[in-house]
Amino acid sequence: MPHAIRIHRTGGPEVLSWEEVEVPAAAAGEATVRHHAVGLNFIDTYHRTGLYPLPLPSGIGLEGAGVVEAVGAGVSEVKVGDRVAYAGGPVGAYAEVRNIPAHRLLKLPDPIGFDTAAAMMLQGLTAAYLLRRTYRVQPGDAVLIHAAAGGVGLIACQWAKALGATVIGTVGSPAKAALAKAHGCDHVINYSTENFTQRVREITGGEGVPVVYDGVGKDTFMGSLDSLCPLGMLVTYGNASGPVPPFDLLLLSQKGSLFVTRPTIVHYTAKRADLEALGAELFDVVASGKVRIEVNQTYALQDAAQAHRDLEARKTTGSTILLP
Ligand SMILES: NC(=O)c1ccc[n+]([C@@H]2O[C@H](COP(=O)([O-])OP(=O)(O)OC[C@H]3O[C@@H](n4cnc5c(N)ncnc54)[C@H](OP(=O)(O)O)[C@@H]3O)[C@@H](O)[C@H]2O)c1
Repeated sequence: MPHAIRIHRTGGPEVLSWEEVEVPAAAAGEATVRHHAVGLNFIDTYHRTGLYPLPLPSGIGLEGAGVVEAVGAGVSEVKVGDRVAYAGGPVGAYAEVRNIPAHRLLKLPDPIGFDTAAAMMLQGLTAAYLLRRTYRVQPGDAVLIHAAAGGVGLIACQWAKALGATVIGTVGSPAKAALAKAHGCDHVINYSTENFTQRVREITGGEGVPVVYDGVGKDTFMGSLDSLCPLGMLVTYGNASGPVPPFDLLLLSQKGSLFVTRPTIVHYTAKRADLEALGAELFDVVASGKVRIEVNQTYALQDAAQAHRDLEARKTTGSTILLP
């Protein structure tokens, strides 16, 4: 029988349990995928802790790459033997083999290997919609990207630079600063030791930036609002430091008629056409070499608990994969 990581209760990394699972024949519209690599994402920790509730018991994980072993009735998107990858629900990617709706799968271009694919689908499609849909980065824009040395961060900084932006990144340590600098950041701010709002004002000659991409959440929210120019947009897309508490909408008017959006990849890739379009942009920017996918940590799938510990302790950089 194949194995998968399952959770029966919410809690710390210890609730991740390596178990034998039965994988039924693919139902209508589904494909059976044997994973060669699985992606680790911060959202997996929200599912594990219950910040984003799941009906339990449950699988976990939203990203994988592998080969189609079987398809159910009516599947037209992929065929047996195709190399594929996906990002998004339903949860259950921490598995040797699984069934998944075929309309979530993208076929991998030849140059993109399984490890790279599993490392980039969720974080890369996120960078794609953030920079190309939510606030469309223009040449000459100064943009602020928090957690610049993280999974989404390293991809987004390189991509924003390739789009002609001046990229300001924040990081939590000197080693991460060097990494961010080597991946597209023109300016790096260590927000553990420096006031990033003040530094952004200095860098932009007092103006502020038209957009902040903030996956850190609670700890950076107010500073992010204060880093914007009038009519600027705060894209608050994650909660690595905890969820943003409720705030007074009048602040947005007082601080410059600001915009705030709280997007998720779910809605930006819900339609197959949108998923394919974003996927094509991501594959292109990676194939062109403008964005390098850095797989900086690799764990055995059954050691997912250790991967969660390291991610939550801010010990990881770039992308992390789990190998079945
Ligand atoms: N909305 C969406 O569609 C979407 C999609 C993908 C990801 N996300 C969000 O994007 C963010 C980044 O995801 P990722 O998977 O690429 O993770 P990641 O950036 O590789 O890891 C999170 C990083 O956040 C920083 N951080 C700041 N305060 C932290 C704290 N108190 N605890 C832990 N980390 C802290 C750390 O970098 P420093 O040490 O440099 O501060 C850490 O490395 C997450 O919030 C995730 O939920 C959202």
